[in-house]
Amino acid sequence: MIQLFHVSKCYGRCAALNDVTLRIDKGDCVLLTGPSGAGKTTLLKLIFGAEFPDEGQILVQNRNVARLRASDIPYLRRTMGFVLQDFKLLPHKTVFNNVALPLIIQGASTFDTNRKVKEVLAAVGLGHKYSALTGGLSAGEQQRVCIARALVNTPMILLADEPTGNLDAHLTEEITELFQSIHARGTTVMLATHNNQVVEQMKGRIVQLHSGRVLSDQEGQV
Ligand SMILES: Nc1ncnc2c1ncn2[C@@H]1O[C@H](COP(=O)(O)OP(=O)(O)OP(=O)(O)O)[C@@H](O)[C@H]1O
Ligand SMILES: [Mg+2]
Repeated sequence: MIQLFHVSKCYGRCAALNDVTLRIDKGDCVLLTGPSGAGKTTLLKLIFGAEFPDEGQILVQNRNVARLRASDIPYLRRTMGFVLQDFKLLPHKTVFNNVALPLIIQGASTFDTNRKVKEVLAAVGLGHKYSALTGGLSAGEQQRVCIARALVNTPMILLADEPTGNLDAHLTEEITELFQSIHARGTTVMLATHNNQVVEQMKGRIVQLHSGRVLSDQEGQV
């Protein structure tokens, strides 16, 4: 489903990723761990086509993301949802409008947009916050809005970058359960985290990055 072959990415003189080769199969649950600056966000951005590698190839469902034309990127993104490290929600818009945004950009009908947004908001336990402004929500609720926005396309792959970064232990457990249920429904999940609680609860395949390299990979042990 996702394959990286000898991928390297530098920002100026900083090697954010260095010769990374990785294979993620359909239905995998990958926990990307490693210290700050290890390259976790960079790896997710490369898979999402938000950054391009300097060297190597990245195949997402057999398409080489490194060589996609700009006009093909929206099609790639329809197969993926990305929960960003910094929420990037629109605080003065309602929960509905934030979650609907990817569908509106794609030109989905109002009927389909309403149906799909209601469905994902119910799935993340926010059906009742439909018309609330996101700026007034708690951190855990905002994180759920981000997850709903990433899920609204029914993506085959869900990428999440520190989705429990600002949450207490209880909310971390709830959000982690949400990812577990998304994975159990067949979505391929790739989640970057520092948080041991998430790693222990998810029981996924742990890929540990350090200084832009894969330090260890539990492939086959899941
Ligand atoms: N846009 C950028 N410009 C310059 N350097 C960058 C940029 N993005 C990342 N880097 C550098 O690349 C390296 C990897 O960064 P990355 O954000 O991928 O790490 P990370 O593992 O996600 O860290 P954290 O756990 O703190 O989120 C770091 O040394 C970082 O400073
Ligand atoms: Mg990061």
